[in-house]
Amino acid sequence: MEQIQEAYDALASEFAAGNPKSKAAYDVATKSLPGGNTRTVLFYEPFPLYTDRAEGCHLWDVDGHKYVDLLGEYTAGLYGHSNPVILEAIQAALKRGLSFGSHHADEARLAQLIRDRFSGIELVRFTNSGTEATLMALAAAKIFTDRSKIMVFEGGYHGGGFLFKSGPHPVNVPHQYLMAQYNDTASVDELIAANGKGIAAIIVEPMIGSGGCIPGAPEFLAHLREKATEIGAVLIFDEVMTSRLYSGGGVQSELGITPDITTLGKYIGGGMSFGAFGGKADIMSTYDPRAASTARKGASVPHAGTFNNNVLTMAAGSAGLEKVFSP
Ligand SMILES: Cc1ncc(COP(=O)(O)O)c(C=O)c1O
Repeated sequence: MEQIQEAYDALASEFAAGNPKSKAAYDVATKSLPGGNTRTVLFYEPFPLYTDRAEGCHLWDVDGHKYVDLLGEYTAGLYGHSNPVILEAIQAALKRGLSFGSHHADEARLAQLIRDRFSGIELVRFTNSGTEATLMALAAAKIFTDRSKIMVFEGGYHGGGFLFKSGPHPVNVPHQYLMAQYNDTASVDELIAANGKGIAAIIVEPMIGSGGCIPGAPEFLAHLREKATEIGAVLIFDEVMTSRLYSGGGVQSELGITPDITTLGKYIGGGMSFGAFGGKADIMSTYDPRAASTARKGASVPHAGTFNNNVLTMAAGSAGLEKVFSP
């Protein structure tokens, strides 16, 4: 044990000696940010490297080292750091002005591109992150079904307030969760038998992502579809990570399994802050502000968000799906 500690200390000293500017930047950050950090996953010991600039698939740290970027910002960086089409779209949008505080045409443009690509999405709404997309998708499911229980899977991750890597986490949004086992239809059936019609939603990653990149068996995902329909629950595919896997239309298009709601994020915003949730028109109409003129009785549910339709994301995302990662 002592030898391991000594070896670690020697390597940590070498790392610090080789990265003095990152160390200095980190020391400054610790004065204002807890642990010098504002996004947990980016931290590592003895201190994280600080990026100075990025181009294409390369990163340069503040000490001048050049790295090949194999992380791709956890799939949000699919287009690379300086794709000319994306940069041009952002620059053109910048010239037209920021933060309109009003509708603008690029939001419908991106929505149409998403609708064309994901078979389960008839109507879509935008958020600022995948986490928010989960938040609003679950709210829609609960309101639509007038039920409260949410089936999740051990090992799953649906954003900062939805961690199920080893049971529910105290940071989670306090829904009434039922924890099933991934790729295990018997565990799903057991919970359904016990909770029957109390289940508002079944939310699943078609491939468990940060929990270990475990693909969902097609029969398992099809079983979830069948059971959700049977009990009248909303099936939510969290395709924040899988949306570009297998096919440009996510796992749903590849397998021909249509969820009721899909959540999206990452690269679809062209590398800018982004999230979206979309699905069947009757469920999504929960958020239709024209309450009085829709078939739904009663008021529509509000969905706020200053930056839901922010001009840079809408422009970068549209350019990405239209011209870079085209069908
Ligand atoms: C499957 C899945 N869902 C949701 C999220 C949350 O997205 P965001 O980080 O944009 O909040 C992530 C992020 O990694 C994810 O992998």
